[in-house]
Amino acid sequence: RSVGIIGAPFSGGQPKDGVQLGPDLIRAAGLVNRLKEQGCDVKDYGNLAFESVSSDEPVGLAKRPRAVGRANQQLADAVRRIKHDGHTCVMLGGDHSLAIGSIHGHAASGSEVSVVWVDAHADINTPLTTTTGNIHGQPMSYVIHELHNKIPVIPNFSWIKPCIAAKDIVYIGLRDVDPGEHYILKYLGIKTFSMSELDRLGIAKVMEQTCDHIFTKVKKPIHLSYDIDALDPSVAPATGTPVVGGLTYREGVYITEHICQTDLLSAVDIVEVNPKRGRTEDEVQSTVNAAVDLVLGCFGRVREGSHPADYKMP
Ligand code: ARG
Ligand code: MN
Ligand code: MN
Ligand code: MN
Repeated sequence: RSVGIIGAPFSGGQPKDGVQLGPDLIRAAGLVNRLKEQGCDVKDYGNLAFESVSSDEPVGLAKRPRAVGRANQQLADAVRRIKHDGHTCVMLGGDHSLAIGSIHGHAASGSEVSVVWVDAHADINTPLTTTTGNIHGQPMSYVIHELHNKIPVIPNFSWIKPCIAAKDIVYIGLRDVDPGEHYILKYLGIKTFSMSELDRLGIAKVMEQTCDHIFTKVKKPIHLSYDIDALDPSVAPATGTPVVGGLTYREGVYITEHICQTDLLSAVDIVEVNPKRGRTEDEVQSTVNAAVDLVLGCFGRVREGSHPADYKMP
C-alpha cells in the first residue's frame, strides 16, 4: 500500500489553541516508520504553510471565514496532488474544518467518493444553523449536494463545489448533535450509527451495515474522516470538545480494520488532536498513540499479529 501524508497545522475552525500542533506530534510518535514497518510505501509531503489572514471579521455567525476558506483551498490542492500521485492520502489535522478541503480535493481527483464520518459530532451545521459560529462544526454542510441552496455566500468559499451525495454518507459515534443538525440528518435521510445504535448492535454489525449502506450501488472509494473525539475521553482526552460515553479503543481500532479490509480506502483524516487540552503528559500521549494506532489500522495492522511472506523460522 502506498501512503501519502499531508500535515495541516490549522486551528482557525475553532477557538482553542494547540490543535495546530497535531501533525508534528503524530509524526513524532513514529507514524512514518511504523507504517513502513508494516509494509507500506510512505511519502511524507510535509506540512502546509498557511498564510495569516489580516482582517477576518465574522460573516454572519461564521468565525474566521477567510482563513478557513483559504486554508482549505490549499489543502484541497495538496490532496488532489497526492491522489494523482497514486497514494492513499492521510491528512493530519488540525481541526475538523479541514474536512472541507480534504473531501473536496479527494472528490476532485477522480470519481465520486463515499464518506464515513467517525465523530461524537455531526459537524453538519450550516452557517445559518450554527450556534457557536465555529466552522469545525460545519464542514459537511459545504460539501453535500443537497444542502447547496442553504449555504450563503462567504468570502474565500466560492471555490467550494458540493461533491458528496447524502446517500453516500455514514456517521458513526454520534452523541452530541445540535437540534439543527439533527433536523438536517433526518431531512436528508443520512445513515447514522449513534452511540445508542452502537450499544444495541455492537461494532461488528455497525461496520457490516455501514458497508452495506455505502456499497448498495457502485463501490466508490471511501473517505474516512476520523475525529479523535469519537473515542471516549478516557482514551483520547487531549481534544477540544470531548464528550463522555464514546468509543472504546477497541471499537475505534475495529472501525479502521474493517474499512481497511474493504480495499476501498482512498483518503483518511485524523483531526482534533490538541496536546494543549491534555492535563498531563500521559493524557497527551494516550491521545496521540490512539491517533497513530487508528492510522496503522487503516493500513493493514491486525491485532492477531502478522509475519512477512519470506519469514524463516530459526
Ligand atoms: N456542534 C458544535 C458546533 O457546531 C460542536 C462541534 C464540534 N466539532 C468538532 N469538530 N469537534 O460548534
Ligand atoms: Mn467531534
Ligand atoms: Mn458532483
Ligand atoms: Mn468533528
